[in-house]
Amino acid sequence: MEQSRKIGWYGLGSMGLFMAINLHNKLKAEGSYLTYSNRTLSKGEVLSQEGAKPKNGITEVARECDDIFLMVSTDAVLKGLISEMLESDVDLKGKTVLDCSTTHPDTAAEVAGLLQAAGASFVASPVFGANTVAQAGRLLFAMAGNQEAIQRLEPLIVGVMGRKIVNMGENARDSVLLKVTGNVLLVVFLEAIAETQVLAEKNGLGTKVMEEVIFENFGPVLGGYSRRMTSGSYAPKEGNAGFSVANTIKDAKHALRLAQDLDVRMPALDLATNNMLSAKAYGGENLDGAALYGVLRSQSGLPFWSNESRQQ
Ligand SMILES: NC(=O)c1ccc[n+]([C@@H]2O[C@H](COP(=O)([O-])OP(=O)(O)OC[C@H]3O[C@@H](n4cnc5c(N)ncnc54)[C@H](OP(=O)(O)O)[C@@H]3O)[C@@H](O)[C@H]2O)c1
Repeated sequence: MEQSRKIGWYGLGSMGLFMAINLHNKLKAEGSYLTYSNRTLSKGEVLSQEGAKPKNGITEVARECDDIFLMVSTDAVLKGLISEMLESDVDLKGKTVLDCSTTHPDTAAEVAGLLQAAGASFVASPVFGANTVAQAGRLLFAMAGNQEAIQRLEPLIVGVMGRKIVNMGENARDSVLLKVTGNVLLVVFLEAIAETQVLAEKNGLGTKVMEEVIFENFGPVLGGYSRRMTSGSYAPKEGNAGFSVANTIKDAKHALRLAQDLDVRMPALDLATNNMLSAKAYGGENLDGAALYGVLRSQSGLPFWSNESRQQ
């Protein structure tokens, strides 16, 4: 890639911090550094200690950088950042924005149009994989938008933040369409595993042997979903949930909206989403999407909280 282009990052949440660390390490090895920002700038301390450069807000990142990665929670936050850049005095011509957040395809299309009108390029780059996968630099990137940018930035993605790119072509909608559609599996698997583990606990098998079977028979991804429940990390005692229940609900609602527009019925996704909504209403914000397990537990006469989770 052209070493002269400066690389920026905005968003240091559960996923973004690990991704930014991996990206900065790659840039550092090449004698460069990552310029970053976040609403809570202090979350980037680990980056600045390694030589990355903090900035106050997205506009300052855009002023300094040519290729800017974003990793934020919701469509509204993404649109807010794009507006901030467009309304600033920064000339965006020739710059590229790559959004790794999960959004509705209409949002990606809208953002692509706004940036193109300002002379910038957009690549919708949502990712598959949990924050542990982000930490390991093994995410699966779905990418669509400016093809020259995808090609140019591939060396900063594959083997750095991700294991592979699925290139969905020029239309930015298409990579997020793949992401939102693929996420149906995550949510429905969470529901299926939660139901299985509650039954295993109630019928005396126990969750440990069931989890062994899930790992052995269905592989590490589904085994990992089970572990989010049995380890109590669906309601972590310390720190933040890996994939917040609010973000998981947001992604599920995007899929339900797409399905409704096409007259597709998704009863399993609908049920799992309602269970996540109930979990959030009962247990608050700091829950993982896997907290639908707590709802199924309480509907079956067990406490919402397990011995391993926090207790309120
Ligand atoms: N976690 C997963 O397993 C996973 C996997 C694949 C895809 N995703 C998707 O990736 C995206 C990020 O996920 P995540 O788990 O990293 O989310 P997260 O932990 O909730 O982090 C969200 C990021 O957005 C920022 N943010 C939130 N509200 C903001 C606001 N009003 N203004 C400016 N910044 C704001 C947060 O800033 P602060 O740090 O200041 O709060 C943080 O940087 C989401 O779209 C999610 O659906 C998540």
